[in-house]
Amino acid sequence: MSNNESYVEVAKIDEIPPGRMKHVELDGLEIVVSNVNGKFYAMDDRCGHMNARLSNGNISQNIVTCPFHAAKFDITTGKKVGEPVLEIPPDMEPLPPKWQKYMETVGKEMSYIKTYNQSTYEVTIEGDVIKIKA
Ligand code: FES
Repeated sequence: MSNNESYVEVAKIDEIPPGRMKHVELDGLEIVVSNVNGKFYAMDDRCGHMNARLSNGNISQNIVTCPFHAAKFDITTGKKVGEPVLEIPPDMEPLPPKWQKYMETVGKEMSYIKTYNQSTYEVTIEGDVIKIKA
């Protein structure tokens, strides 16, 4: 017996060429569907660090880099493979003292934030349709 009834269509194959991603929403979940060398993968689109949309980030082979603080995740497993980068660029103009104080506080709080792996979802292809099980 097929259990394909529990898979839901989220996109057509030609909407997501190799090296591209698509944000989809399903039952209140925000999911990024990615094409890695012709194979499709799905995982949570909200970054496990501070919720930015990974589908707005950069994809290179099987790695997506978050657009907010550059945490990296393996699209094929959902695993975090790179921590967020929170340093201020060394060539940045010094901030006014009031802002420096504020940034110190924010930086301290941010250091307590953990970045988690992303949940992944099963993907199946039927004809030219991408379906996922959420
Ligand atoms: S929100 Fe993704 S790295 Fe910070």
